[in-house]
Amino acid sequence: MTRHRLLSLTIGLTTMVAGTGLAQAASSNEPIQPVVKAKPQNAAVVELGKKLYFDPRLSKSGFISCNSCHNLSMGGTDNLKTSVGHNWHQGPINAPTVLNSSMNLAQFWDGRAADLKAQAGGPIANPGEMAFTHELAVDVLQSIPAYVAEFKSAFGSDKVDIDKVTKAIAAFEETLVTPDSRFDKWLKGDKKALNKEELAGYKLFKDSGCTACHNGPAVGGNSFQKFGVVEPYKTTNPAEGRIAVTGKDADRFYFKVPTLRNVELTYPYFHDGEAATLKDAVNTMGRLQLGKQFTDEENSKIVAFLKTLTGKQPSFQLPLLPPSSDKTPRPQP
Ligand code: HEM
Ligand code: HEM
Repeated sequence: MTRHRLLSLTIGLTTMVAGTGLAQAASSNEPIQPVVKAKPQNAAVVELGKKLYFDPRLSKSGFISCNSCHNLSMGGTDNLKTSVGHNWHQGPINAPTVLNSSMNLAQFWDGRAADLKAQAGGPIANPGEMAFTHELAVDVLQSIPAYVAEFKSAFGSDKVDIDKVTKAIAAFEETLVTPDSRFDKWLKGDKKALNKEELAGYKLFKDSGCTACHNGPAVGGNSFQKFGVVEPYKTTNPAEGRIAVTGKDADRFYFKVPTLRNVELTYPYFHDGEAATLKDAVNTMGRLQLGKQFTDEENSKIVAFLKTLTGKQPSFQLPLLPPSSDKTPRPQP
């Protein structure tokens, strides 16, 4: 049996199961589950991680922080086709949101980082992103007395190292979940939380087979799937997905299915950022993944449903970053 046929079968099955669920809104039959509020493990570590997330001194230029590309005022993304990094370097790929990223089965479009901690070291040393080295980032932090004190109270040791840095950033990212979307309220039994058009959109989303890949609490993020199941995806972007990690030809063009939580905020779409609007993205998904050409009316119902997935955005006080000391290495061009 070919992969494609297998997938259509899976999609068919999921649709059958899912299609029966609409009448019982809050039932566990739904392919999507509500986002669960974060329970931070260690407040001191989270607070330190928040500072590091916002601190541009972790970049060579002293200008770029995690928040530059995963802006928490903009759905945890940069809203650019592909990110802009050190020296205005235009990166090769679209920045996924950090919101709810703790629910991903792995990090990055091709899943090359196992978890948030493994991921967090990447951008600091990526020449096209923050262009620093782990050693220099640690030197900067170690030269700032207030940071050293904070590492001590968070980890019980005043030795700053990259392991603690990435642990703290990951702990902060784990708090970036977005519960209480209107859709979640509906799932929990508030029948008035969605209007008729949005409900019809959800039904279409399920009955068309979208939930074969976009399911679970994150409405995605839990599998790698081929982009271009029924029809190949045409792009000039060189990324080939999962094959970069496994080396297996069968994984060519398999990408992590992105979460659709907050998708209203995370435009543009796809790993190459080529879909400017949700309307475009839904149209492409229908054709390429499912062989369906949605009418304008169907498309706008699905889009209306997708917009109900916008949850409560993380809200916190902006961290005040401790000042550099005379010994702190200065930003470099
Ligand atoms: C991917 C966090 C800095 C651009 C990711 C992901 C996370 C993340 C969690 C994976 C999300 C997913 O796969 O769903 C961080 C943190 C940073 C940081 C904690 C600071 C240490 C940056 C910066 C840029 C950037 C400064 C832009 C210059 C990107 C891009 C991807 C990505 C383009 C996708 C890369 C790929 O999949 O190959 N980031 N990020 N990030 N981030 Fe960041
Ligand atoms: C990406 C919606 C069906 C797998 C997306 C995105 C949207 C979306 C809006 C862009 C998200 C972003 O870039 O942040 C839908 C809808 C579907 C559907 C409305 C039903 C009509 C499917 C199915 C599969 C799938 C059935 C699996 C066979 C993927 C993958 C991506 C994606 C792999 C990432 C593609 C890439 O950029 O490389 N989907 N989807 N989707 N979806 Fe779907």
